[in-house]
Amino acid sequence: MPTVLITGASRGIGREFVRQYEDAGWRVIATCRDPAGTDLSCETHALDVTDPASVDAVGATLRDEAIDVLINNAGLYGPRDYGPNSIPYDDWESVLRTNLLAPMRVTAALMEPVARSDRKLFVFLSSIMGSIGGGGGGQYIYRSSKAALNAAVVALAQDVRPKDIGCLLLHPGWVQTDMGGPSAAIDVVTSVTGMRQVIEGWSIDETGVFRDYAGEPLPW
Ligand SMILES: NC(=O)c1ccc[n+]([C@@H]2O[C@H](COP(=O)([O-])OP(=O)(O)OC[C@H]3O[C@@H](n4cnc5c(N)ncnc54)[C@H](OP(=O)(O)O)[C@@H]3O)[C@@H](O)[C@H]2O)c1
Repeated sequence: MPTVLITGASRGIGREFVRQYEDAGWRVIATCRDPAGTDLSCETHALDVTDPASVDAVGATLRDEAIDVLINNAGLYGPRDYGPNSIPYDDWESVLRTNLLAPMRVTAALMEPVARSDRKLFVFLSSIMGSIGGGGGGQYIYRSSKAALNAAVVALAQDVRPKDIGCLLLHPGWVQTDMGGPSAAIDVVTSVTGMRQVIEGWSIDETGVFRDYAGEPLPW
């Protein structure tokens, strides 16, 4: 069976990816900041995606593995209650480190294990809030972090295409998690079931696309 690695697997969407891929019989490698504080029973590695030493350590541990699908899921919303004159800049830096720099660093650290696999796919949890064409005011911190991730991944997709490695940007929907809140539109089961179907149907010809959990293309 294929192997999937998931970042931010302690709760929310990441935790549900672990559950569903385990049920499907995949080899699942979960990563999270504090494995001891979770109920994860699969292979689990401690990984703070914003800590270069932590990323390097996981890269070294998994150097000789083959990882078919790497899901860059770990993410941070940051503060919500601010306006143009009250932007919390320190928080903005933290969110950019988590949502933009970290997935690129994790991807680089695990490039060889993914290149060695059969499927060779990097998945990135983006958001419709990162869609410039999607419109909407406020929430500069989170929006800009996901818009920047989209830009970086589109460029990355072109660079790794010659090695038959693919990249897929996914919006999970508005999902009932700690981030999405209890009023969100869909539950994690619906979101992750849909995203797994999109991943399953994906082919290298579609590298660099931005889709939602139902497979619908989204505006940049
Ligand atoms: N929920 C939504 O409606 C929604 C919509 C669009 C996009 N997304 C995206 O989907 C992804 C998952 O969101 P979610 O709703 O599941 O969020 P969540 O419930 O807030 O969970 C976030 C996950 O990311 C992990 N994480 C945060 N910073 C980390 C770090 N530095 N190192 C390692 N792990 C870290 C958290 O780990 P800890 O337990 O250690 O904090 C947690 O497992 C995110 O990228 C998010 O931006 C979500």
